[in-house]
Amino acid sequence: MRFDTAQLLKRFFFCERSLLVSQAAWIPAVAPLDVKTGLARFTWQDAETANALRDRVFELRFPSRLLEKEGADRALIELFAAIRNSPSVPAFLRSAAQVVLPALRDAYQSYLEASDVVADGPTHRFLTLALKEKEEQIAAFERWADSSLAQNPNQRPAALAWTRAVADRLTAVGGVGVAASTASSPAGPLPGSTFYRHPVHPARDPRFWSCRFYWPDIIDSSYPYGEGLQLQLRSAISHLNEVWAIEAGGVILSAFAEVLPWDWIYDAARWTYDESRHCRMGYERLMAWNFNPAAIPLGTYIYESASAEDAIYLLGMLYFFETKNIRHKPARAQLFHQYGDSLSEHDMDFDWADETLHAGYGKHWLKELLTVRGEDPTAYDQVRERCGQLVSDCVSSATAEEIAAIKEVAGALVARARKLM
Ligand SMILES: [Fe+2]
Ligand SMILES: [Fe+2]
Repeated sequence: MRFDTAQLLKRFFFCERSLLVSQAAWIPAVAPLDVKTGLARFTWQDAETANALRDRVFELRFPSRLLEKEGADRALIELFAAIRNSPSVPAFLRSAAQVVLPALRDAYQSYLEASDVVADGPTHRFLTLALKEKEEQIAAFERWADSSLAQNPNQRPAALAWTRAVADRLTAVGGVGVAASTASSPAGPLPGSTFYRHPVHPARDPRFWSCRFYWPDIIDSSYPYGEGLQLQLRSAISHLNEVWAIEAGGVILSAFAEVLPWDWIYDAARWTYDESRHCRMGYERLMAWNFNPAAIPLGTYIYESASAEDAIYLLGMLYFFETKNIRHKPARAQLFHQYGDSLSEHDMDFDWADETLHAGYGKHWLKELLTVRGEDPTAYDQVRERCGQLVSDCVSSATAEEIAAIKEVAGALVARARKLM
C-alpha cells in the first residue's frame, strides 16, 4: 500500500543522501583526476535519484510534507553517513564498492521486482535508471579501490578490516532491502573510524606537473593572457584547472548539508558535477592536441586560498571567480569560432550556460547561509570581497622559484603547441 511504499522510498532517499554527502566530502582527498571527476558525476546522479525519491514520497503521503529521519531506519542511515569517516582513501572506496553500493543496488532490484509497474509506474521509471547507475558506480568504485590499494599496500589491512566492519554493521542493522527494519538505535562509531576533515592541500594526480600557480599571468600581470594559439591553450589549461572548483563544490556540499535545506544539496551536487565537466573539457582538449600530462601544470592556489578558512569562503570563492570571469566567455567563444577551433568554441559556449546558472547559486546560497547563521544576508558581497583578498594574499606569496618554474613550463607548452596545433 502507498504508505508502506512511501516508508521504503524514504529509506532509500536518506541512504542516497548520506552516501552522496560522504562522496562529495572525499573529492579533494583523492588524487586521480578520473576519480575526482567520477565522484562528482556520481554525486550528481545520486542527488537526482534522491530528489526523485523525495518528490515521490511527498506524492504518496499527500498532504504531508514531513520527511523526518526517524525510527526504524535511523541506524541504517547512520551507517551510510559513517563511511564519510573511513580511515583512508582505499578504505572509503572499497567499503562503498563492496558494501554500501551493492546494498542499494540489491534493494532497488528487489523493489522493482516486488512492486506494481502500473500503480507505482512513476517510481519504476526513475528507479530503473538508478539501478543502472548503481551498477556503473559499483564497477567504477571497484576499479578505483583496486588501484588505490595497489598504490598504498600499507593501507590494505586497515582498508579490508574497515570494509568488514561496515559489512558487519550493515547486517546488524538489517540491511537496506525492502523489508521492515529490525534495528532502531544507532550503535555508535565503527571500529577504525577516523573523523574526516577536508584536506588543506588537495591531493593531485601525479601524472601532471604539480604546482600552486598554473600559468604565469596569475602571478605576473605583465605576462599576456594571449591570443590565437596561446589563448586556445590558456583556455584549455583554465578548464583543466577548474579541478579546484570540483573540490570546493564537494567540500561545501558536505559542510552545509546539515544546516541548509535539501535544495542546497541538490544544487551543490549539480554545481560540483558541472565543474567536473569543465575540468574534463580542458583535459580532453589537451589530450586531443596530444600534450603529455607531465608537461601540463595542475595548480592548487585557489582551493588553498580558502581551504583553512570557514567553508563559507570556499562557497564565496566559487561565486568570486564565476562573477569575475563570466563576461569574458562569449567573446572568447567568438574568437575560437574565428580561429576555426570548433571544439574550444563548443566547450566555452556550454561552459557559459553552466556558469550563468552557478552565479545564481552562489548569490542565493551565500544569502541563505548568512541568514541561517543569524547574519545580514546582504553581506554576501563582503564574503566575495574577502575572497578576492584571500586570493591576492596567496598570489603575493609566490616565490621567485615558482615564477621562474611556471614561466619555463608555460613557455615549453606554447612552443610545443606551435608544433602540434
Ligand atoms: Fe566552471
Ligand atoms: Fe561554475
